[in-house]
Amino acid sequence: MCNRNPPWWNRRTRMERSLCAIAVIALVMCIAMTFALAFIGYHYQNQLESRGSANLRPTAEQLVKDSESQPNAIQTTHNNDVCLTPGCVKAAADLIKNINEKVSPCDDFYKFACGGWVDNQVIPDDKTSVSVFSLLQDELNNKLRVLVEMPAEEKEPKFFEKMRNMYKSCMNLADIEKVGNTPILTVLEGLGDWPVLVGGNWDESKFDWLQMLIEFRKLGFSHDILMDLSVTPDFRNNTQHIIDLDQASLGMPDRSYLLRGLNDSAVAGYYKLMVESAVMLGANRSAAEHEMLETLQFETILANYSLPREERRNISLLYNKMNVTQVALLAPKTHWNKYFNNLLSDSVTDKEEIIVNVPNFIRNVDTLIAQTNKRTLANYMLWRVVLQSFATLGKKWRELAQEYNTVITGQAREEPRWEQCMSSLTGSLGIALSSLYVRHNFKGDSKHVALDMVEYIHREFLKILDRVEWMDDQTRQKAKDKAHAITPYIGYPDELLDNEKITELYKHLELSPNDYFKNVQNLRRWSTDYAFNQLRKPNLKGDWRKHARAAVVNAYYNALENSIEFPAGILQGSFFSRDKPNYLNFGGIGFVIGHEITHGFDDRGRQFDKDGNNKNWWDSKTDSNFKERANCIIEQYGNYTVPENSLQINGVNTQGENIADNGGIKEAFRKPLNLKKAYQEWVKDNGAEKPLPGLNYTPQQLFWISAANVWCGKYRPEVLKLRVQVGSHSPAQFRVVGPVSNLPEFAQTFNCKVNSPMNPKHKCSVW
Ligand SMILES: *[C@@H]1O[C@H](CO)[C@@H](O)[C@H](O)[C@H]1NC(C)=O
Ligand SMILES: *[C@@H]1O[C@H](CO)[C@@H](O)[C@H](O)[C@H]1NC(C)=O
Ligand SMILES: *[C@@H]1O[C@H](CO)[C@@H](O)[C@H](O)[C@H]1NC(C)=O
Ligand SMILES: *[C@@H]1O[C@H](CO)[C@@H](O)[C@H](O)[C@H]1NC(C)=O
Ligand SMILES: *[C@@H]1O[C@H](CO)[C@@H](O)[C@H](O)[C@H]1NC(C)=O
Ligand SMILES: *[C@@H]1O[C@H](CO)[C@@H](O)[C@H](O)[C@H]1NC(C)=O
Ligand SMILES: *[C@@H]1O[C@H](CO)[C@@H](O)[C@H](O)[C@H]1NC(C)=O
Ligand SMILES: [Zn+2]
Repeated sequence: MCNRNPPWWNRRTRMERSLCAIAVIALVMCIAMTFALAFIGYHYQNQLESRGSANLRPTAEQLVKDSESQPNAIQTTHNNDVCLTPGCVKAAADLIKNINEKVSPCDDFYKFACGGWVDNQVIPDDKTSVSVFSLLQDELNNKLRVLVEMPAEEKEPKFFEKMRNMYKSCMNLADIEKVGNTPILTVLEGLGDWPVLVGGNWDESKFDWLQMLIEFRKLGFSHDILMDLSVTPDFRNNTQHIIDLDQASLGMPDRSYLLRGLNDSAVAGYYKLMVESAVMLGANRSAAEHEMLETLQFETILANYSLPREERRNISLLYNKMNVTQVALLAPKTHWNKYFNNLLSDSVTDKEEIIVNVPNFIRNVDTLIAQTNKRTLANYMLWRVVLQSFATLGKKWRELAQEYNTVITGQAREEPRWEQCMSSLTGSLGIALSSLYVRHNFKGDSKHVALDMVEYIHREFLKILDRVEWMDDQTRQKAKDKAHAITPYIGYPDELLDNEKITELYKHLELSPNDYFKNVQNLRRWSTDYAFNQLRKPNLKGDWRKHARAAVVNAYYNALENSIEFPAGILQGSFFSRDKPNYLNFGGIGFVIGHEITHGFDDRGRQFDKDGNNKNWWDSKTDSNFKERANCIIEQYGNYTVPENSLQINGVNTQGENIADNGGIKEAFRKPLNLKKAYQEWVKDNGAEKPLPGLNYTPQQLFWISAANVWCGKYRPEVLKLRVQVGSHSPAQFRVVGPVSNLPEFAQTFNCKVNSPMNPKHKCSVW
């Protein structure tokens, strides 16, 4: 979902990659998934042996035997006095559908809490997965569709018209079909022809890779295909912006795919996509097969040069500041002055400082380009233009793309057109779209209630900082300072209602109602212009444009701002409702809030200080204590095997999310339920919170069930594999069983025997 990560630590890798964010900002990790990988996670097969109905109430014997778990945790719910408000009845009905009481919560809490949900869901043919997140996003998308398709209101601001034009041009399949291959062929001709199409007629003397890259930038195609150039806040002095030079973005979801070679079905699918598109544009099949193989081999070398995700977690290692002169010493064959001065908006001299994330990559690519024949290089570069154009061309192109998609994600057919068109709005036009959404949908009073919850959970995190025994006092104080400095953004900024401000933002963007191909180019160029224009401007903390994508079901921590964000889209449904008992909200949005706060202190977040600068504030002993604890999490998750495909979780790549899940649920649990005093105060003011009808569980138990329900999901095998291999989030079931088996509070609530699967003796805990 979302991926609004900084370009230097997590690659955006989607066909329409550069359509993505406006201001590419450093939002570390969304709660759900990255944009790149769509909604992906865990496909759970119903493999329940009949176990008989597990009794949730502990027997007297269990209570005696479980010397380590404290009795008293289970409260009776022999309470006739249940909550019968519509909100409670609806919540109860949902929970009853979700759980599977045939499974004991102590054996597998995911199957217990989500088993019913999983059994009842079918993944639609046009989806790769379903999850609690995706269902809510679907609902939201339906609302957006109604709004976007509505006839324009009179005197509607211009930016809504632009947005509607984008949508209309995308929906206008008749026109798209009518123009056929002309738009892409015209582009390729203008760029000196795609060699594979013209055989011996290709004139290599006119080819210059750098000149071609500059043309891409001018036309609105990605310039990041050989190396990635962006403008970001300087992460060691984040009040200013700086140029960032990184490894290339690739055509496949991850370098590891390309490195598997043609025997792998996904790589074979990618190769087929290359060959068939060349043939569709008029190439000889045998020429296409031959030349595209060379193209693929070239890209595989690029992949091999790039740093794997595991090695991109240490921010300091990615911060290599050099001036242009030094970059030229590192990579002498590239004309860097021309490169920077033509791609960027501002002029750059030899003194200009650049962050080079992976110097070896730049050095190697410099040599590779010089050694590769021009034909192969041109074939590769123009292939990437074709790849970016699939979604904007006619039916046979979309079918071809879909065939590849099926191999990569298992999705059986393409999404309805309106959904595709909606996603083309959520990227660069996300602010206009969100503006339309909040004008019609978000109740302002939720903001205040959500803020209240943020405060409770925030305080709980501060208490944890006081309690952890592995920190020295100085580091502890710095951590507390950092926690105090976290800024929350909730719902949406007021500027979304300010027509002038939004008009100003989209001032230079032109979109017509009937030229989708051109519109996408315009949008990409505008979006890059916007980002590059920031170079000489200060980076303002809390700039509303960075917190204005309200129409998404997601949440963020931004390491460069030390801020957390909960867009309007997530403050609803199963996450949050004012009509539901607080114990459910704390399990839902409360868990999410705790998760985002904890990101500030996970393996990457902790490398930034309270102001959001990459700076080491850790005493060396405390630093190694942290690493030891994080390592416990790495090994715990690294030992989980996904039953469907026998793949092991990548403990290193998922550690940040896992640390956030573990801390988040703990912080959310403590407030409403353990702090008797605060809770009783709350009860005094608000009335007692009653249990739910038809569910024989205590409020504590319902808290955990509600928290587990955040992750209920069902996934196609292909996309599950993709997630395990390249994702930063563990599959759904492990996001539940991992944290609960680490928390004694869980075992107490459900009275799980010591050494039962959800209550192992050996537990990991960072925060
Ligand atoms: C296609 O193949 C034919 C026959 O082998 C050859 O004459 C022609 O030049 C080729 N065209 C291209 C564009 O490669
Ligand atoms: C940080 O950036 C500001 C604004 O550009 C500049 O004035 C200041 O000198 C920089 N600080 C350091 C330590 O480079
Ligand atoms: C990647 O590079 C290494 C080191 O140069 C080499 O041994 C390996 O064969 C390469 N892998 C591929 C798939 O090209
Ligand atoms: C690819 O598969 C073929 C046939 O199964 C096998 O002979 C070949 O060694 C494999 N190549 C690689 C690089 O694994
Ligand atoms: C990053 O790597 C450097 C150099 O190896 C090391 O000194 C530093 O401790 C690492 N940082 C973290 C947070 O692990
Ligand atoms: C670039 O940096 C090097 C090393 O700090 C320095 O010696 C050189 O003068 C700088 N070049 C320019 C043009 O500023
Ligand atoms: C599995 O756990 C063992 C011991 O706890 C550890 O040594 C090993 O590295 C773990 N495996 C992975 C893949 O993390
Ligand atoms: Zn996260």
